[in-house]
Amino acid sequence: MKKKFLSVLLAASMMATVLAGCGASADTAAPAADAPAAEEAAPAEEAAPADDAAADTSAAAGGTVGISMPTQSLERWNRDGSYLKEQFEGKGYTVELTYSDNKIDQQVKDIEGLIADNVNLLVIAAIDGESLTQVLADAKAAGIPVISYDRLIMNTDAISYYVSFDNYTVGKLQGQYVVDALDLDNAGDKTYNIEFTAGDPADNNATFFFNGAYDTLKPYIDKGTLVVPSGQTKFDQVATAQWDTATAMERFQNILGSYYSDGTQLDVALCSNDSTALGVTQAIQSDYAGKNSVIITGQDGDEANLANIVDDKQTMTVYKAVANEAVATLDIGEALLKGETPDEGLIKSAGWEFECTYDTESYDNGTGVIPSYLLVPIVVTKENIQKELVDTGYYTMDKDGYAHPVG
Ligand code: BGC
Repeated sequence: MKKKFLSVLLAASMMATVLAGCGASADTAAPAADAPAAEEAAPAEEAAPADDAAADTSAAAGGTVGISMPTQSLERWNRDGSYLKEQFEGKGYTVELTYSDNKIDQQVKDIEGLIADNVNLLVIAAIDGESLTQVLADAKAAGIPVISYDRLIMNTDAISYYVSFDNYTVGKLQGQYVVDALDLDNAGDKTYNIEFTAGDPADNNATFFFNGAYDTLKPYIDKGTLVVPSGQTKFDQVATAQWDTATAMERFQNILGSYYSDGTQLDVALCSNDSTALGVTQAIQSDYAGKNSVIITGQDGDEANLANIVDDKQTMTVYKAVANEAVATLDIGEALLKGETPDEGLIKSAGWEFECTYDTESYDNGTGVIPSYLLVPIVVTKENIQKELVDTGYYTMDKDGYAHPVG
């Protein structure tokens, strides 16, 4: 069985869960935030587990991987950066990891720098999916394969593959959670009030999340079971530039002031992710007069949001095991470095123990459909934090009952 590193931490008692869910996550149980600098990366022979050594020829070849992440100010990208670095370094690659402070020009400069450093592969999570056309033309001219990581990079034929989660399903899970929690199919004449908060219009994922949620809830809005007092139901009306917490908070304070100050009850705040949910939760805490507990959705399993879930201030989050996204990226990247053209077969041959679909239809970046590897998100609530996040090795649980990410 090919699988990267079963950690000591996850030995015996957790093995069943790990194998059922994702063996690859186990290796990430070792915190990567303090991972050694690229130059200190362990040689491939030392890093590769014995059972991988025979199959793995690329590790010996080595090379440098340039990883461009959007920002450290949104929690998940710190985990992505750490996991990706850990994966590639574990196979003997040198890693150059950049964060661009959510500034588009900075990301262009960072990628230019990686190209100038002659990296052999680029892994990029774009800040603005539309702004990398020129710099990626340069990457293509330099013969550097590019993996579009998590967010689809638009209008460039320089990207070879897209690796992400099923983004539409993320939204569907949020919408379905609301349907089930309020038992909307049996609501009769009862009505519930809902407001939407979506993500950054520059992020191609944001519309997928919003559409997944909205499409799931639309039948109930059409029937009148769900009511949107603000009337804001279009993506552009509910979007949040840069997924910024303060921006989401301010917009929601305005909504509460304008549509709920007369005592109207808010039942649901459908938020596309955790950074926006955090702002919406703050607004509800400070500016909502109602005493009911509002259903608040999210995505990512950010630390503050998990604490809010434990404290009943947020209701659910959609968790995406980014440790597995990093594993998939490593295997796709290695295939590209060997000059291969990976396809659906990689899912089996790589021995991934997490669910993944190969999709050649859904993600057109304006130059054609980009072959995509899409991992599967899950719903996390107060009830299953231990099982889904802690027992799987992604988080540790404090004595105080709060979960902390490992990566
Ligand atoms: C990611 C989400 C994340 C958001 C903000 C999206 O592209 O898929 O997981 O919440 O960016 O960081």
